This record gives sequence, C-alpha cells and structure tokens, in this order.
Amino acid sequence: MRKPIVVVGSINLDFVASADHVPLPGETLTGRDFATFYGGKGANQAVAIARLGHPVSMIAKVGDDSFGPTLKRALREAGVDVGPVAAARGSSGVALINIGRDGHNSIVVIPGANGKVQPADITKNTALLRRAGMLLAQLEIPLETVETLSVFAHRHDIPLMLDPAPARELPSGLLRNIAWITPNENETRILCGLNANENVSSATAARCAEMLLARGPKNVIIKMAEQGSYLATATGLREMAPAFRVKAVDTTAAGDAFNAGFAVGILSGKQPLDAARYAAAVAAISVTRPGAQPSMPSAREVAKFLALPANRSIAGRPFTARPKATP
Ligand code: RIB
Repeated sequence: MRKPIVVVGSINLDFVASADHVPLPGETLTGRDFATFYGGKGANQAVAIARLGHPVSMIAKVGDDSFGPTLKRALREAGVDVGPVAAARGSSGVALINIGRDGHNSIVVIPGANGKVQPADITKNTALLRRAGMLLAQLEIPLETVETLSVFAHRHDIPLMLDPAPARELPSGLLRNIAWITPNENETRILCGLNANENVSSATAARCAEMLLARGPKNVIIKMAEQGSYLATATGLREMAPAFRVKAVDTTAAGDAFNAGFAVGILSGKQPLDAARYAAAVAAISVTRPGAQPSMPSAREVAKFLALPANRSIAGRPFTARPKATP
C-alpha cells in the first residue's frame, strides 16, 4: 500500500484581479477581470497530490468565518483527507493576487487562521504523521510549527520537503532536517543573499544550490520557471531539468503544482530527474488554466501531456538552453 503524503500548511481564499500588467508601486490600473479561487500553498499542494491519485492528508486551520467551511469542503471534494483540519477563531487565510496579461503575478497573503497552526497541531497528529511517506510544508504557517515538524521528520526518518515560500531567513536547525528544499528564483535570491534584481541563471542556481547544501538540506531543487529546475542531490546529481513550452494564462500555484508532482513522482519510485520532468508537466498544465486549485491536473491529463510528440522529444534529455515560455 502506498504511504500517504501529509501536507502541513496554509489554506486561503484567493481574490484575483487580472489586468494588463501587475501594478507598479503608486500605479492605479483599470483591470479586466476579478475572480475568487481556492488557494493557499499548502492546500494547493494537497489538491494537486490528490488529483494525481496519491493519498494525502492535510494538517491546517480555517477560520470560523463564512469562508472556513467552504474552504474545507473544497479540499474534501478534491479528495484530500481533511480530518486534521480544524477551525480557529477569527478569519480564514486570504490572498490578494494581481495577474498580468503574461500570466505572471504578485501576491499579498493575510495569514488569518493559518497563523494559528501551532506546534501542538503536530504533536496532536503524530499517529498520522508517522504513517507518511513524505511530509510537505511551506512558510505560510508559523515557523516554529515547521521547525517542530522538521524535528519529527528527522527523528522518524520521514523525508520533509520544504517550499521556503514566502521566503525568509531559515534557522540552521531547520535546514539540517530538510530532505528537499525547493526555492523559486525569488526565494533563491533571498536565501543566498543575492541582489533583488539579480538574474538567476543556471550557473547562479548551481552556486546557490551548493551554498544551501552546505547549510544542511540533503537535496536542493531551484525552480526557475521557464528555464526549468536545477537539481542538486545528496547522491551527486547536478543537473538542469527542462521545463515544457506552454502558453501561460496564470502562473499562480505553478510552484505548488511542481512540488506536488515531484513528491508523487519520488514516492512512485521515479529517480529525481524523472520526478522533476513529471513535476514540470504538472506545473506546465497548471499555468494554462486560471486559478490555483482549479488549475491542478489529474494523473490522466499529465500522462496525456507527456505523451504528446512535442513533449516526448525532450524526455530524459539533459537540459539545454532551449527558450521556453512557462511555467
Ligand atoms: O502559491 C500560490 C498561492 O500563494 C496562492 O494560492 C495564494 O493563496 C498564496 O498562498
């Protein structure tokens, strides 16, 4: 029997405004469209895992406002075990998202109930956590909760994948307990002390991955959107994995889709490069659709995508500098 994945993370309602471009500081824009979607990095990863057909549970909190029950129901209907999702006093998590015509975005997250996921929620759920094949976390819940989870993961030898988003400095004790750390370009700049506008090339990614490995995580994946992802593993792999060429309409949650796909790939026995290719396909499909959770593809859709002649041709080949649009 496949061991479940347990996601400890955030659940948000996303308020999404689409405009020609993401507004600049001080700019007022007339937008094109407004929509709400189910989101939150943790919940997006859990939903993506469920759609890919892998058993998944979520440890999280929603508010006792009108959004709370709806957010929880959406997760349940997507196939996520929400037994450990509790209601906390106050508002649910929300995210305000601006999307430009090119599909790129900027996000402000108000944690609400996500800020109330406590270390006690880890100790309360140890029976569930102990059965997990992999644990997934992000940084939209309190850091001390993620640290407690990491100690548990280390003690029980269960791989922890940390999506360090939103980015912040991370304590060395936490870094040492991580099996996979998966920063995107922006998070890589912050974790590696680069300038805010510095381009993250494959060479920069290689350098930052070594810096991160030296601080403790066993494996590093730097998610570089249309450039692909750079993998540096404990087994000595140093490789760019390709991204797929698609037309993006909304890149929200592409990183979440990638993490879910990678976790499912690894737990189904794929080697890291193959798991990265699978993850890139999950992410590529997600950016062709609007919204966070609604954009996550099923296992069948991913298989169909990977079987397309255009996508088969890059199967298993090392990354080359082929220009790509998304994810
Ligand atoms: O990663 C995308 C997610 O970030 C959005 O769904 C939003 O809720 C924020 O958490």
